[in-house]
Amino acid sequence: MNRTFIICKPDAVERGLVGEILTRFERRDLKVVAAELRTIDRETASKHYAEHEGKPFYEDLVTFIGRSPALCAVIEGPTDTWQIVRTMMGATNPAESDPGTIRGDFGLEMSENLIHGSDSAESAAREIAIFFPGL
Ligand code: RTP
Ligand code: MG
Repeated sequence: MNRTFIICKPDAVERGLVGEILTRFERRDLKVVAAELRTIDRETASKHYAEHEGKPFYEDLVTFIGRSPALCAVIEGPTDTWQIVRTMMGATNPAESDPGTIRGDFGLEMSENLIHGSDSAESAAREIAIFFPGL
């Protein structure tokens, strides 16, 4: 089996969209194999978003991801699960995401784009180790 990591970001939890988002993955026949609602601390956020350190949006991004609880989860599928999940998420900017995707159906702004998903098999392994080290 093949795993990837997602975060239903604080905006998704605040808006009550966690059930809707997880339901989409479950209906696709992907499995939720770990899930935890947690407020992501600064240290964890900076590890998670290390690739973006120094970019103009970095400070806003780490502040946003920790502003209220987020639902961190590991999703399992047969193969290239990260890619299936990224397709279901839609483009980074919800204003440009296709209808039928999570961001395209529920989002409007780049800064509040509802969901994170690992962007490669290597990212998935790295991020699962940060958030669910025992898994
Ligand atoms: P994520 O990591 O959250 O799943 O999003 P992503 O892969 O689709 O996009 P990424 O390039 O990794 O960017 C991480 C988050 O930073 C914010 N962002 N703002 N203002 C900007 O140009 C800009 N670019 C990225 C977004 O909130 C994005 O989700
Ligand atoms: Mg990313």
